[in-house]
Amino acid sequence: MPARAASAALTALAPYLRCPHCGGALGFVDGALGCDRGHRFDPARQGHVALPVPGRNPARGDSAEMVAARVKFLGVGHYAPIAAGVVAAAGEVLGWPGNSRELVVDSGAGTGYYLGAVLDDHHGAWGLALDSSRPALRRAVRSHARVAGVICDVWQELPVQTGAADLILNVFAPRNPGEIERTLAAHGALITVTPTPRHLHQLVARLGLLGVAEDKQERLHTGLSPHLESVRRRELDFEMTLSPQDVAALVTMGPSSHHLDRDALRRAAEALPGELGVTAAVVIETFRRAGTRKGGGETRVCLGEPSTPRPAHRGRRTAG
Ligand SMILES: C[S@@+](CC[C@H](N)C(=O)[O-])C[C@H]1O[C@@H](n2cnc3c(N)ncnc32)[C@H](O)[C@@H]1O
Ligand SMILES: [Zn+2]
Repeated sequence: MPARAASAALTALAPYLRCPHCGGALGFVDGALGCDRGHRFDPARQGHVALPVPGRNPARGDSAEMVAARVKFLGVGHYAPIAAGVVAAAGEVLGWPGNSRELVVDSGAGTGYYLGAVLDDHHGAWGLALDSSRPALRRAVRSHARVAGVICDVWQELPVQTGAADLILNVFAPRNPGEIERTLAAHGALITVTPTPRHLHQLVARLGLLGVAEDKQERLHTGLSPHLESVRRRELDFEMTLSPQDVAALVTMGPSSHHLDRDALRRAAEALPGELGVTAAVVIETFRRAGTRKGGGETRVCLGEPSTPRPAHRGRRTAG
Protein backbone atom coordinates (compact mmCIF):
# COMPACT_ATOMS: atom_id res chain seq x y z
CA MET A 1 0.00 0.00 0.00
CA PRO A 2 1.31 3.49 -0.78
CA ALA A 3 2.13 5.63 2.25
CA ARG A 4 -0.64 7.88 3.44
CA ALA A 5 1.62 10.81 2.55
CA ALA A 6 2.17 9.67 -1.01
CA SER A 7 0.15 11.73 -3.43
CA ALA A 8 -1.74 10.10 -6.27
CA ALA A 9 0.85 11.65 -8.55
CA LEU A 10 3.81 10.14 -6.68
CA THR A 11 2.08 6.76 -6.74
CA ALA A 12 1.42 7.07 -10.47
CA LEU A 13 4.97 8.18 -11.25
CA ALA A 14 6.85 5.70 -9.04
CA PRO A 15 7.53 3.36 -12.01
CA TYR A 16 9.37 6.19 -13.78
CA LEU A 17 11.69 6.83 -10.81
CA ARG A 18 15.08 5.27 -10.24
CA CYS A 19 16.87 4.36 -7.03
CA PRO A 20 19.75 6.82 -6.44
CA HIS A 21 21.79 4.09 -4.69
CA CYS A 22 21.65 1.24 -7.21
CA GLY A 23 19.77 2.58 -10.25
CA GLY A 24 17.01 -0.01 -9.74
CA ALA A 25 13.33 0.52 -10.37
CA LEU A 26 11.27 2.03 -7.54
CA GLY A 27 7.83 1.08 -6.33
CA PHE A 28 5.85 1.40 -3.13
CA VAL A 29 6.80 -1.16 -0.48
CA ASP A 30 5.23 -1.02 2.98
CA GLY A 31 4.27 2.61 2.58
CA ALA A 32 7.64 3.82 1.33
CA LEU A 33 9.28 4.03 -2.06
CA GLY A 34 11.79 1.24 -2.42
CA CYS A 35 13.83 -0.86 -4.81
CA ASP A 36 14.44 -4.63 -4.94
CA ARG A 37 17.76 -4.22 -3.11
CA GLY A 38 16.08 -2.81 -0.02
CA HIS A 39 16.80 0.91 -0.36
CA ARG A 40 13.87 2.87 1.11
CA PHE A 41 12.71 6.48 0.76
CA ASP A 42 9.87 7.87 2.86
CA PRO A 43 7.69 10.51 1.23
CA ALA A 44 7.33 13.70 3.25
CA ARG A 45 3.99 14.53 4.81
CA GLN A 46 3.52 17.14 2.06
CA GLY A 47 3.74 14.43 -0.63
CA HIS A 48 7.18 14.91 -2.17
CA VAL A 49 10.13 12.56 -1.70
CA ALA A 50 13.88 13.11 -1.43
CA LEU A 51 16.05 10.88 -3.66
CA PRO A 52 19.59 12.16 -3.02
CA VAL A 53 22.67 10.57 -4.55
CA PRO A 54 24.53 9.04 -1.59
CA GLY A 55 27.78 10.63 -0.49
CA ARG A 56 27.09 13.97 -2.19
CA ASN A 57 26.45 17.25 -0.41
CA PRO A 58 22.90 18.46 -0.90
CA ALA A 59 22.66 21.10 -3.63
CA ARG A 60 21.77 24.61 -2.68
CA GLY A 61 18.20 25.39 -3.62
CA ASP A 62 16.04 28.44 -3.31
CA SER A 63 15.22 29.47 0.26
CA ALA A 64 11.70 29.78 1.67
CA GLU A 65 11.96 33.56 1.28
CA MET A 66 12.95 33.27 -2.39
CA VAL A 67 10.15 30.80 -3.03
CA ALA A 68 7.59 33.08 -1.36
CA ALA A 69 8.78 35.94 -3.58
CA ARG A 70 8.47 33.69 -6.67
CA VAL A 71 4.92 32.73 -5.72
CA LYS A 72 4.07 36.41 -5.30
CA PHE A 73 5.66 37.62 -8.54
CA LEU A 74 4.41 34.81 -10.78
CA GLY A 75 0.97 35.02 -9.19
CA VAL A 76 0.51 38.56 -10.52
CA GLY A 77 0.95 37.21 -14.03
CA HIS A 78 3.89 39.27 -15.28
CA TYR A 79 5.55 36.16 -16.74
CA ALA A 80 2.30 34.79 -18.20
CA PRO A 81 3.57 35.43 -21.78
CA ILE A 82 6.53 33.16 -21.02
CA ALA A 83 4.20 30.46 -19.70
CA ALA A 84 2.08 30.82 -22.84
CA GLY A 85 5.21 30.40 -24.98
CA VAL A 86 6.20 27.25 -23.07
CA VAL A 87 2.68 25.85 -23.44
CA ALA A 88 2.75 26.52 -27.20
CA ALA A 89 6.13 24.82 -27.53
CA ALA A 90 4.94 21.87 -25.42
CA GLY A 91 1.86 21.53 -27.63
CA GLU A 92 4.12 20.98 -30.64
CA VAL A 93 5.93 18.20 -28.77
CA LEU A 94 3.06 16.43 -27.06
CA GLY A 95 0.51 17.08 -29.78
CA TRP A 96 -3.21 17.64 -29.48
CA PRO A 97 -5.81 17.04 -28.12
CA GLY A 98 -3.40 16.28 -25.33
CA ASN A 99 -5.21 13.37 -23.70
CA SER A 100 -2.52 10.73 -23.94
CA ARG A 101 -0.53 9.61 -20.92
CA GLU A 102 2.83 11.31 -21.11
CA LEU A 103 5.56 12.20 -18.66
CA VAL A 104 6.70 15.81 -18.43
CA VAL A 105 9.81 16.28 -16.27
CA ASP A 106 10.64 19.80 -15.08
CA SER A 107 14.32 20.09 -14.13
CA GLY A 108 14.64 22.93 -11.60
CA ALA A 109 10.85 23.21 -11.44
CA GLY A 110 10.67 25.77 -8.64
CA THR A 111 7.05 26.25 -7.69
CA GLY A 112 5.76 24.30 -10.70
CA TYR A 113 4.37 27.37 -12.47
CA TYR A 114 5.34 26.31 -16.01
CA LEU A 115 4.84 22.57 -15.45
CA GLY A 116 1.30 23.19 -14.21
CA ALA A 117 0.55 25.37 -17.24
CA VAL A 118 1.61 22.55 -19.57
CA LEU A 119 -0.43 19.94 -17.67
CA ASP A 120 -3.51 22.18 -17.85
CA ASP A 121 -3.43 21.72 -21.63
CA HIS A 122 -2.55 18.01 -21.62
CA HIS A 123 -5.10 16.18 -19.55
CA GLY A 124 -3.48 12.77 -19.76
CA ALA A 125 0.03 13.96 -18.91
CA TRP A 126 1.75 13.69 -15.53
CA GLY A 127 4.40 16.03 -14.23
CA LEU A 128 7.57 15.28 -12.30
CA ALA A 129 9.03 18.35 -10.58
CA LEU A 130 12.74 18.00 -9.77
CA ASP A 131 14.35 20.59 -7.52
CA SER A 132 16.81 20.80 -4.66
CA SER A 133 14.62 23.28 -2.76
CA ARG A 134 12.18 21.75 -0.29
CA PRO A 135 10.05 24.92 -0.01
CA ALA A 136 9.81 25.10 -3.80
CA LEU A 137 8.72 21.48 -4.13
CA ARG A 138 6.11 21.85 -1.42
CA ARG A 139 4.56 24.48 -3.65
CA ALA A 140 5.05 22.46 -6.82
CA VAL A 141 3.19 19.40 -5.54
CA ARG A 142 0.31 21.58 -4.38
CA SER A 143 0.26 23.40 -7.69
CA HIS A 144 -1.39 20.63 -9.70
CA ALA A 145 -2.98 17.28 -8.89
CA ARG A 146 -0.86 15.52 -11.53
CA VAL A 147 2.50 16.80 -10.25
CA ALA A 148 4.83 14.68 -8.10
CA GLY A 149 7.89 16.29 -6.52
CA VAL A 150 11.36 14.81 -6.04
CA ILE A 151 14.12 16.58 -4.14
CA CYS A 152 17.41 15.94 -5.93
CA ASP A 153 20.46 17.63 -7.33
CA VAL A 154 20.13 18.02 -11.08
CA TRP A 155 23.91 18.13 -11.42
CA GLN A 156 24.00 14.49 -10.29
CA GLU A 157 22.34 11.44 -11.85
CA LEU A 158 18.64 12.18 -12.10
CA PRO A 159 16.36 9.77 -10.21
CA VAL A 160 14.46 9.11 -13.43
CA GLN A 161 14.43 5.95 -15.55
CA THR A 162 16.35 5.99 -18.82
CA GLY A 163 14.18 7.12 -21.74
CA ALA A 164 11.17 7.84 -19.51
CA ALA A 165 10.49 11.50 -20.29
CA ASP A 166 8.34 12.50 -23.24
CA LEU A 167 9.14 16.14 -22.53
CA ILE A 168 11.69 17.83 -20.28
CA LEU A 169 11.26 21.46 -19.26
CA ASN A 170 14.17 23.59 -18.11
CA VAL A 171 13.14 27.13 -17.29
CA PHE A 172 15.64 29.62 -15.82
CA ALA A 173 17.26 26.66 -14.07
CA PRO A 174 20.44 24.58 -14.10
CA ARG A 175 20.60 21.67 -16.53
CA ASN A 176 22.65 18.51 -16.82
CA PRO A 177 22.93 17.73 -20.55
CA GLY A 178 24.12 14.13 -20.11
CA GLU A 179 21.25 13.24 -17.81
CA ILE A 180 18.71 15.06 -19.98
CA GLU A 181 19.87 12.99 -22.91
CA ARG A 182 19.71 9.75 -20.87
CA THR A 183 16.22 10.32 -19.48
CA LEU A 184 14.60 11.65 -22.65
CA ALA A 185 12.53 9.19 -24.71
CA ALA A 186 13.72 8.62 -28.28
CA HIS A 187 10.78 10.68 -29.56
CA GLY A 188 11.03 13.20 -26.71
CA ALA A 189 12.06 16.84 -26.61
CA LEU A 190 13.64 19.36 -24.27
CA ILE A 191 12.21 22.86 -23.96
CA THR A 192 14.49 25.48 -22.44
CA VAL A 193 13.78 29.05 -21.39
CA THR A 194 16.88 31.20 -21.06
CA PRO A 195 17.19 34.96 -20.58
CA THR A 196 18.97 37.15 -23.13
CA PRO A 197 21.22 40.06 -22.13
CA ARG A 198 18.20 42.42 -22.50
CA HIS A 199 16.31 40.56 -19.77
CA LEU A 200 15.56 42.96 -16.88
CA HIS A 201 18.30 45.30 -18.18
CA GLN A 202 16.69 48.32 -16.52
CA LEU A 203 17.05 46.61 -13.12
CA VAL A 204 20.59 45.50 -13.86
CA ALA A 205 21.48 49.15 -14.49
CA ARG A 206 19.47 50.62 -11.63
CA LEU A 207 19.95 48.10 -8.84
CA GLY A 208 23.20 46.44 -9.86
CA LEU A 209 21.62 43.00 -10.44
CA LEU A 210 23.69 40.29 -12.07
CA GLY A 211 23.48 40.64 -15.85
CA VAL A 212 23.08 37.83 -18.40
CA ALA A 213 26.29 36.72 -20.12
CA GLU A 214 26.46 37.55 -23.84
CA ASP A 215 27.43 33.96 -24.66
CA LYS A 216 24.65 32.28 -22.67
CA GLN A 217 22.82 30.96 -25.75
CA GLU A 218 26.04 29.72 -27.28
CA ARG A 219 26.90 27.86 -24.06
CA LEU A 220 23.44 26.28 -24.02
CA HIS A 221 23.94 24.89 -27.53
CA THR A 222 27.51 23.78 -26.87
CA GLY A 223 26.43 21.96 -23.70
CA LEU A 224 23.64 20.04 -25.46
CA SER A 225 25.48 19.15 -28.66
CA PRO A 226 26.14 16.78 -30.30
CA HIS A 227 23.29 14.67 -28.89
CA LEU A 228 20.51 17.26 -28.90
CA GLU A 229 19.87 19.85 -31.59
CA SER A 230 17.63 22.88 -31.72
CA VAL A 231 14.53 22.38 -33.84
CA ARG A 232 12.50 25.46 -32.87
CA ARG A 233 13.46 28.80 -31.39
CA ARG A 234 11.18 31.59 -30.22
CA GLU A 235 12.47 34.95 -29.04
CA LEU A 236 10.07 36.64 -26.68
CA ASP A 237 10.57 40.27 -25.74
CA PHE A 238 7.95 42.25 -23.81
CA GLU A 239 7.58 45.15 -21.42
CA MET A 240 6.24 44.75 -17.91
CA THR A 241 5.00 47.57 -15.70
CA LEU A 242 6.27 46.73 -12.24
CA SER A 243 5.44 48.30 -8.90
CA PRO A 244 8.22 48.66 -6.31
CA GLN A 245 6.74 45.57 -4.58
CA ASP A 246 6.85 43.60 -7.84
CA VAL A 247 10.49 44.61 -8.29
CA ALA A 248 11.27 43.61 -4.71
CA ALA A 249 9.73 40.16 -5.31
CA LEU A 250 11.55 39.81 -8.63
CA VAL A 251 14.99 40.58 -7.19
CA THR A 252 14.35 38.37 -4.15
CA MET A 253 13.41 35.34 -6.28
CA GLY A 254 16.24 35.75 -8.79
CA PRO A 255 19.87 34.64 -8.94
CA SER A 256 21.17 37.98 -7.59
CA SER A 257 19.60 36.93 -4.32
CA HIS A 258 22.21 34.14 -4.03
CA HIS A 259 25.17 36.39 -4.74
CA LEU A 260 24.37 39.93 -3.56
CA ASP A 261 23.01 41.41 -0.32
CA ARG A 262 19.40 40.32 -0.60
CA ASP A 263 18.03 42.64 2.10
CA ALA A 264 19.79 45.68 0.67
CA LEU A 265 18.47 44.79 -2.80
CA ARG A 266 14.93 44.43 -1.53
CA ARG A 267 15.12 47.74 0.34
CA ALA A 268 16.45 49.49 -2.78
CA ALA A 269 13.63 47.98 -4.83
CA GLU A 270 10.95 49.00 -2.33
CA ALA A 271 12.38 52.54 -2.29
CA LEU A 272 11.82 53.01 -6.04
CA PRO A 273 9.66 56.11 -6.58
CA GLY A 274 6.89 54.35 -8.51
CA GLU A 275 6.07 51.98 -11.35
CA LEU A 276 8.90 51.06 -13.67
CA GLY A 277 8.90 49.73 -17.24
CA VAL A 278 11.04 46.59 -17.27
CA THR A 279 11.88 44.37 -20.25
CA ALA A 280 11.51 40.61 -20.13
CA ALA A 281 13.56 39.01 -22.92
CA VAL A 282 13.94 35.27 -23.21
CA VAL A 283 14.52 32.53 -25.77
CA ILE A 284 12.20 29.53 -25.69
CA GLU A 285 13.87 26.72 -27.56
CA THR A 286 12.96 23.13 -28.39
CA PHE A 287 15.66 20.48 -28.76
CA ARG A 288 15.36 16.95 -30.09
CA ARG A 289 17.81 14.14 -30.48
CA ALA A 290 20.17 14.83 -33.34
CA GLY A 291 18.85 13.21 -36.51
CA THR A 292 15.19 13.21 -35.40
CA ARG A 293 14.35 16.74 -36.54
CA LYS A 294 10.60 17.12 -37.18
CA GLY A 295 10.33 20.44 -38.92
CA GLY A 296 11.64 23.56 -37.29
CA GLY A 297 11.53 27.25 -37.29
CA GLU A 298 12.36 30.52 -35.75
CA THR A 299 9.89 33.01 -34.37
CA ARG A 300 10.48 36.42 -32.94
CA VAL A 301 7.69 37.82 -30.81
CA CYS A 302 7.78 41.36 -29.49
CA LEU A 303 4.80 42.17 -27.38
CA GLY A 304 4.62 45.95 -27.60
CA GLU A 305 2.20 46.77 -24.82
CA PRO A 306 3.32 46.65 -21.20
CA SER A 307 2.00 43.61 -19.40
CA THR A 308 -1.30 43.91 -17.63
CA PRO A 309 -1.14 41.99 -14.38
CA ARG A 310 -3.57 39.08 -14.56
CA PRO A 311 -3.77 35.58 -13.21
CA ALA A 312 -1.45 33.40 -15.21
CA HIS A 313 -3.56 30.32 -15.76
CA ARG A 314 -6.91 28.77 -15.38
CA GLY A 315 -7.35 25.55 -13.42
CA ARG A 316 -6.89 24.67 -9.82
CA ARG A 317 -3.20 25.40 -9.70
CA THR A 318 -2.03 27.93 -7.16
CA ALA A 319 0.01 30.50 -9.03
CA GLY A 320 3.54 29.82 -7.98
C1 LIG B 1 15.57 30.58 -11.01
S1 LIG B 1 14.70 29.23 -10.27
C2 LIG B 1 13.56 28.73 -11.56
C3 LIG B 1 12.40 27.93 -11.05
C4 LIG B 1 11.30 27.64 -12.10
N1 LIG B 1 11.81 26.88 -13.21
C5 LIG B 1 10.69 28.94 -12.55
O1 LIG B 1 11.16 29.48 -13.57
O2 LIG B 1 9.76 29.43 -11.90
C6 LIG B 1 15.92 27.93 -10.27
C7 LIG B 1 15.44 26.68 -9.54
O3 LIG B 1 16.47 25.70 -9.65
C8 LIG B 1 16.64 25.09 -8.38
N2 LIG B 1 18.02 24.58 -8.32
C9 LIG B 1 19.17 25.29 -8.25
N3 LIG B 1 20.23 24.46 -8.24
C10 LIG B 1 19.74 23.19 -8.30
C11 LIG B 1 20.33 21.89 -8.34
N4 LIG B 1 21.66 21.74 -8.33
N5 LIG B 1 19.50 20.82 -8.40
C12 LIG B 1 18.16 20.97 -8.42
N6 LIG B 1 17.55 22.17 -8.42
C13 LIG B 1 18.32 23.28 -8.36
C14 LIG B 1 16.32 26.20 -7.38
O4 LIG B 1 15.96 25.68 -6.10
C15 LIG B 1 15.19 26.92 -8.07
O5 LIG B 1 13.93 26.40 -7.71
ZN1 LIG C 1 18.33 0.66 -4.72
